[in-house]
Amino acid sequence: MKTSLTEARRLLQKAEDVLVITGAGISAESGVPTFRGAGEKWRNRHFTELANPKAFEADPKFIWDWYLYRRSIVAACEPNAAHRALAAWQMRGAHRSIVTQNVDGLHERVGSEVVRMHGSLWRNTCLACFEDREDYSLSFEAADGLPRSPCHHSLERPAIVWFGEMIPKEASVSAQHLAAMADVIITIGTSGLVDTANRLIKTARDLRELQPAPSPRSLIVIDINLEETEVQATHRLLGPAGSIVPELLSP
Ligand code: OAD
Repeated sequence: MKTSLTEARRLLQKAEDVLVITGAGISAESGVPTFRGAGEKWRNRHFTELANPKAFEADPKFIWDWYLYRRSIVAACEPNAAHRALAAWQMRGAHRSIVTQNVDGLHERVGSEVVRMHGSLWRNTCLACFEDREDYSLSFEAADGLPRSPCHHSLERPAIVWFGEMIPKEASVSAQHLAAMADVIITIGTSGLVDTANRLIKTARDLRELQPAPSPRSLIVIDINLEETEVQATHRLLGPAGSIVPELLSP
């Protein structure tokens, strides 16, 4: 159901443990194109055709060029009011966690501690040993235009979770743990079409139902988005994250 900022703030004041889950929409006002928006296609290919291991095997240069293009966009963007409000809110209290589907690193740039579910645009994985390293290159010097790992001089791939791949175990376990503790979950700027957020919501709901009587308050899920989404929310705040999040989280 649609709710008001006043009601959402009241619910948050009573919360003991809050988990925030962010998606591409939180970075839209910074100028980062969302997947199911301006970023849907690149060189006439749909992002689902690009963000998968088969596409990389078939043409690593093409896929790296897409990620280098995305790096160049994000490098020119700044975190916005929603990223900053979340960082300040997280620093003001305990039991305030952030899990993100985003790979852009904008939360990290304002000092938030985040669990990254889908990897990082700024890391490469060595295809010989599967270790990651940080990398901020906007182009690669090798004749074939591809990155090589310093450890094995092997081809690297973007350290991103692609369609058909598992979320890294460490991130998945941390996020499940945070969901299990939460009595309020806030989702921001996710379409819910990838089931990362809904799976965490389900974990939180199932665990609360298993708790013995006297039964705990049921899970509250506040979804912040421009439109109604697939997120299994109990409350919806419709509008841009850059205005709603600072108002919701201000002291
Ligand atoms: P999507 O691109 O699917 O959805 C972006 C959401 O942000 C939409 O629901 C928009 O309505 C909303 N939105 C846009 N601007 C907003 C604003 N200013 N304020 C609030 N909401 C806004 O992004 P995600 O749900 O994060 O995965 O997508 C999840 C995953 O899909 C991505 O991590 C990526 C992609 O497949 C992989 O690459 C594996």
